[in-house]
Amino acid sequence: MTREQVLEKLRHLPDPVYRISMVELNLIKDVMVKESGVAMSVVLSSDEEGRREELSKQIKDALSQEGIADVHIRFRAMSDFERNEISKRHKAEPAPAAEKPTPTNLLGAESKTTFIAVASGKGGVGKSTVAVNLAAALARKGKKVGIIDADIYGFSVPDMMGIEERPELVDQLIRPVERFGVKIISMGFFVQDNAPVIWRGPMLGKMLKNFFTEVEWGEIDYMVLDLPPGTGDVALDVHQMIPQSKEIIVTTPHATAAFVAARAGAMAVHTNHEIIGVVENMAYYSCGQCGHKDYVFGRGGGAKLADELHTQLLAQIPLGAPDNHPAEPDYSPSVYKADSEAGGMYLEVADAVIRRCET
Ligand SMILES: Nc1ncnc2c1ncn2[C@@H]1O[C@H](COP(=O)(O)OP(=O)(O)OP(=O)(O)O)[C@@H](O)[C@H]1O
Ligand SMILES: [Mg+2]
Repeated sequence: MTREQVLEKLRHLPDPVYRISMVELNLIKDVMVKESGVAMSVVLSSDEEGRREELSKQIKDALSQEGIADVHIRFRAMSDFERNEISKRHKAEPAPAAEKPTPTNLLGAESKTTFIAVASGKGGVGKSTVAVNLAAALARKGKKVGIIDADIYGFSVPDMMGIEERPELVDQLIRPVERFGVKIISMGFFVQDNAPVIWRGPMLGKMLKNFFTEVEWGEIDYMVLDLPPGTGDVALDVHQMIPQSKEIIVTTPHATAAFVAARAGAMAVHTNHEIIGVVENMAYYSCGQCGHKDYVFGRGGGAKLADELHTQLLAQIPLGAPDNHPAEPDYSPSVYKADSEAGGMYLEVADAVIRRCET
């Protein structure tokens, strides 16, 4: 790679004060390309907290896509002389600090987003169902909510929420699709005709990272993460990528499901994720005529798991698909209406989550 090519790769990075490309402003200087890697000096227009880390990460990410792993960056503050020169050359006054450009880094130090990962030990217990309904319930409570479908191979969120549109690309950022007041990103948006995702580990990690950094999330209070089942690579990636995440474990009432779910709980503990509760899904079947509860998948798995993980049982959601019809304007196969029985339970889960995270 040449010096010019390196600069070209960094051209998309805006300066937060002037809101013009840092390369355009000549703030990335002394680029040296050596066999062992790349070195450069970077001039900072503001010394806002976390800026160095964020920028350093952005630069390294951009160059690592080109296979450059070793990047050495020296930071220094902008001098008054440089500030004057920029103002003259670009007729640009520093924009007021309050209106900074959007690229919010959800993982950055200054992020105010609470992450809630939804995990399970086994597949098919209803993680995605719980994730989309919790997200919708938090939005119904007036929160700014996003959902990342972190199940890269087995994505299902767009379909479950009845989404047919695709995200747009605006200023090099992906604008998430919005449904029920929830912003959504999923591998499903980038796959043609339900083709299988045939990738190996490193690609998955990269894609996942893009979901956090290349998406125009704006302000998000709660980011719900729908994890793939079990304790495999991607689940581990997510756990390590988001050190501050809270976690909800989903299980069915069956004793074996709860036993397997305990391993997901152990992974959360191992990576310092705080478990905030257990949701027991498919807890029972309630007879429409007489209201009698039939515990078709056994009983007590959720309570036992909550006990083992020293956390609370947040809800016992009965069997039953949402009563939604494809003819409805906001049709979704898996999001319960707010005034349905399950919908009400998810509102209570949302309340519990908000109490837990905001007090
Ligand atoms: N309470 C419920 N009553 C009836 N069906 C349900 C319930 N919860 C989930 N389902 C259905 O069970 C199936 C599995 O649910 P879901 O996809 O949410 O599970 P999952 O744990 O995310 O699965 P995977 O491990 O494959 O990601 C789906 O078809 C879903 O619609
Ligand atoms: Mg799922």
